Amino acid sequence: MTKTHPITPCLLLDTARMTTNIERMRTRLQALGVALRPHVKTCKNIDIARQLTAGHPGGITVSTLAEADYFFEHGMTDILYAVGIAPGKLPAVADRMARGMALRIVLDHPQTAVAVAKAAKTFGTRFRVLIEIDADGERAGLRAEASELIEIAAILERAGCHVDGVMVHAGGSYHCDDTDSMRRMAERERDCAVTAAGRLREAGHEAPIVSVGSTPTATFAEDLTGATEVRAGVHVFQDLVQAGLGVCKIDDIAISVLTEVIGHRQEDGKLLVDAGWMALSRDRGTADQAVDQGYGLVCDETGQAFDDVIVTGTNQEHGIIGHRDGSPLNLDEFPVGTHLRILPNHACATAAQHEGYWIVDSPYQARRWLSRCRGW
Ligand SMILES: Cc1ncc(COP(=O)(O)O)c(C=O)c1O
Repeated sequence: MTKTHPITPCLLLDTARMTTNIERMRTRLQALGVALRPHVKTCKNIDIARQLTAGHPGGITVSTLAEADYFFEHGMTDILYAVGIAPGKLPAVADRMARGMALRIVLDHPQTAVAVAKAAKTFGTRFRVLIEIDADGERAGLRAEASELIEIAAILERAGCHVDGVMVHAGGSYHCDDTDSMRRMAERERDCAVTAAGRLREAGHEAPIVSVGSTPTATFAEDLTGATEVRAGVHVFQDLVQAGLGVCKIDDIAISVLTEVIGHRQEDGKLLVDAGWMALSRDRGTADQAVDQGYGLVCDETGQAFDDVIVTGTNQEHGIIGHRDGSPLNLDEFPVGTHLRILPNHACATAAQHEGYWIVDSPYQARRWLSRCRGW
């Protein structure tokens, strides 16, 4: 839906900050000699994806088939669907491949490989597969040394599918305490991927793709020899979790939620605003970091952050704003009707609550509406 003017709460995008973030990652990866396959689940918008992929022939990464469809409709064909494939989605994958989408899927279980082999026969589709490898015990993937790696590749090859390589995502980088441990995590992510790809090649598979990456590991990696692509995503907007990790600065964060003061809580010196968890998300990703940002850090209308003023609570459409230490705010500084901006803990989660972005320039003025694709 086209929007004519912003109504709070709404998502603002500072394109100057975004462009700086994109360029910074591009320069880093160029220096490391590895291609970017940006994860576009963060932006879910074609204009931003085009800016992310400019100069990178390596295609995109998505987290839903709805994203794959949306970006394909806008001319992007080389797409990695980077969530372990559910066998129930294989007919949909086959259909998209038949329509010209160069769609790759990931899996890490022999049972899934058997389901893919069966679907390959049923639909006459030569599925393209990356086998997911685990670097940190955080989520999915086989250990690089697991015997199932070769078993899965053999099942796929017998069914005429392409064993295109391996994918590793070191989500454990989000729990690192310092830049040294993020550097080590980046090494581990690369080593696991390279080891697994080497084993596939020794077993006779081509495995041309060695796909690694998260924003923290991409930011701190020093040597990505053997990796063929990096899948960073959240770097496009950055967020408070990344700032807490030392990946970016608060001033790099490119999205914020515009909200308006709707009331005062005189008893505890807090503000009520019209952005609750529907607009901010319930993400509490900074809760276990050195600085807990509550449900988001509060800025004035121009995007200038206040010292230690955060969203302390959320209901569906109400946000409660107060001092981080619980001391009362001077409510006279925030009359009803004041516009504020909230920086997100997790950019992907907050953006996912919104249908699109209002592009803002500095000084603050909402200029243009950019829609986001949604759903699964
Ligand atoms: C498989 C995969 N690759 C890449 C990424 C991008 O990582 P980040 O959000 O840290 O940029 C994600 C994020 O969740 C992911 O799940």
